Amino acid sequence: MAGVSLQGIVKTYGGLQVVHGIDLEVQEKEFVVLVGPSGCGKSTTLRMIAGLEEITDGDLTIDDRHVNRVAPKDRDVAMVFQNYALYPHLNVADNIAFGLRIRKESKEAIASSVQEVGDILGLTPYLERRPADLSGGQRQRVAMGRAIVRRPKVFLFDEPLSNLDAKLRTQMRAEIKRLHKRLGVTSIYVTHDQIEAMTLADRIVVMHDGRIEQIGTPMDLFLNPVNTFVAEFLGAPPMNMIKATIASGGSSPVAEFDGNKVPLAPIPSLQNAVGRDVILGVRPEFVTVADHTVPDRVAVDVDLIETLGSEALVHASLQGAPFVIRTETVGQMRLLDNISGFTIEPHLIRVFDAQTGMALPGQVMVQ
Ligand SMILES: Nc1ncnc2c1ncn2[C@@H]1O[C@H](COP(=O)(O)OP(=O)(O)OP(=O)(O)O)[C@@H](O)[C@H]1O
Ligand SMILES: [Mg+2]
Repeated sequence: MAGVSLQGIVKTYGGLQVVHGIDLEVQEKEFVVLVGPSGCGKSTTLRMIAGLEEITDGDLTIDDRHVNRVAPKDRDVAMVFQNYALYPHLNVADNIAFGLRIRKESKEAIASSVQEVGDILGLTPYLERRPADLSGGQRQRVAMGRAIVRRPKVFLFDEPLSNLDAKLRTQMRAEIKRLHKRLGVTSIYVTHDQIEAMTLADRIVVMHDGRIEQIGTPMDLFLNPVNTFVAEFLGAPPMNMIKATIASGGSSPVAEFDGNKVPLAPIPSLQNAVGRDVILGVRPEFVTVADHTVPDRVAVDVDLIETLGSEALVHASLQGAPFVIRTETVGQMRLLDNISGFTIEPHLIRVFDAQTGMALPGQVMVQ
C-alpha cells in the first residue's frame, strides 16, 4: 500500500520548534491537501516527507517502510515546486527525461516514456523548446511531466500553481485533478489557497502554528468545523461570527444578542449551556434575506449589494463587524432592494464556545 504515515512528526530549527508533533495517515491513491496560513509549517512538513529536511522526532513511513533516514532519491517520491525548478539549458524532452537518464534507463524506454508523458500533458508540440520559450502554464506542465515520468509511489506538490495568473490557475487545477483521476498516485499537496484545497482534496488537513487543527473531507470541514479557526479559514466569503449568550427558550435554547432571540437546535450541549457566552458561526450561504415585514428577522445595516448575475453578495454590518450574505437573485430582486435583515434555520447555525473557540459537541450537519 503506497500510503504515507506521519506519527508524532516534529521539526526544530536551532532549538525553535516549528512543527509540534503531527499525526497523519494518507491512504493509497488519496489526494490530501495541507492548507493553512503562511508560516504554519506546510512546506516544512512536505519537505520532511520528501527527505529534503531532516525529521527531528517522530516516525515517517511510506508504503509501510520506515524512511526517516532514507535518502530523498530512494523514497520513491516526486516533488513539484512552485518555481518549477527546470534546467534552463535543457529542452522540454530532456528536462522530462532527466530523472530517467540518472537511473540509466535505456534510450528506447526513455523516448517512449517522454512521448507518453508529453501526450498526457499536451506538451508534444513543445518537446524541442527550452523553458525560457514556454508560458508559465507550460513550464508548470513540464515540471509535472518530470515528476510523472518517474512513476513514483507518491507525488508531493508545494504550491505548484501560485506563480500562475488566476485563469491559468483554475485551468491547471482542473488538469491536476484529471491527472490524479487517471494515474491514481497518492498525492500530498500544499497550498494556502482554500479554494484550491476545497476543489482538489479528497481530505483536507488544516494547519495552524505547526499543528493540525482538523482533518476531513472538504464538505465535512465546511459544514462541521471543530473550531473558529477552521470555520473562518474555509469558505469564501468567510463564515460570519456573532457574539451571543445562550438562554433558555422553552422547547429549544435561544441565542441572545443585541435584543435578538434566535432559536438554536434543541440538542443537549446547547440546552445545557444556558448563560454561556458563545460565538454563532453563520455561513453567508445559509441565511434567508428578509425585509422589514419579517418580524423575527435579525436586523443588519446594509452597506452595498453586489449583483453577480444569478447570485448577489450583500455586504452589511452587525455588531460593528462585516456581515456578508450570499443569495440568489432570481425571483427576489425586489426583496433585495428592501433587505433589512435575515433569518436562519436553527440547525444551520454553528455554535462555538466564546472562550475556547471550540464548537459545542453534538452539532452535526450532513450534506
Ligand atoms: N531553514 C529554516 N530555519 C529556521 N526557520 C525556518 C526554516 N524554514 C522554515 N522556518 C520556519 O518554520 C516555520 C514554518 O515554515 P514553512 O515554510 O513550513 O511555512 P509554510 O506553511 O510553508 O508557509 P508559506 O505558506 O508562507 O509557504 C516558519 O515560522 C518559518 O519561519
Ligand atoms: Mg510554504
